[in-house]
Amino acid sequence: MTVNPVSTNSSASLISPEIGKSAIDSAHPTLKLGILASGSGSNFEVIAEAIQKGQLNAEIPVLIYNNPEAKAAARAEKYGIPAILLNHRDCKSREELDTKIVKTFQEYDVEWVVMAGWMRIVTKVLLDAFPDKVINIHPSLLPSFPGIRAVEQALAAKVKITGCTVHIAHLEVDSGPILMQAAVPVLPDDTAETLHARIQVQEHKIMLGAIALIAESH
Ligand code: GAR
Repeated sequence: MTVNPVSTNSSASLISPEIGKSAIDSAHPTLKLGILASGSGSNFEVIAEAIQKGQLNAEIPVLIYNNPEAKAAARAEKYGIPAILLNHRDCKSREELDTKIVKTFQEYDVEWVVMAGWMRIVTKVLLDAFPDKVINIHPSLLPSFPGIRAVEQALAAKVKITGCTVHIAHLEVDSGPILMQAAVPVLPDDTAETLHARIQVQEHKIMLGAIALIAESH
């Protein structure tokens, strides 16, 4: 399948609230999303909420988290979504963790994988099992500021505009075809926390927009 990349700007109208409705009305089969989350899970929750409201033609058969403290697990419970802990500390290698992830997703018939704040580097094991069907969200306008602490990197570089990106994940960290981006201005008094909070508002919009695109061409 082909997903047409779209760029957006946060100052423009980003994502129509209607974007998912056409998917629901269409003959496309429901998209089965496996979610990977390491932290708060706010991106995961906007997907779960949109599905619950009938705005996205998708379902989430399972969420995998790697950090026992991840708040994403409690959010999953709220939506009746099974949350499975695969702790990377119990694995000898990245490949071993990814092998467990693939097995779990296959058991739940997952079709596309969403890294929604997944703070582990993924390997060929995962990417080969779901070729060009793993998406990632990153808090910068890639290819600027890949890797960890992207928001701090943007502040240190003194850029005036940063943002967020949803892309198809390839092997190199934070690389692969871009599906959607949103720009966020850096304000003079911004700290990493204030800037990240505004980036996350945009992340939630492009995450839903990108998944709607995938669901429509599924
Ligand atoms: C998001 O800001 C996402 O862009 C970032 O982690 C946060 C997770 O938030 N991901 C990365 O930095 C991956 N390189 P959430 O848990 O509230 O969705």
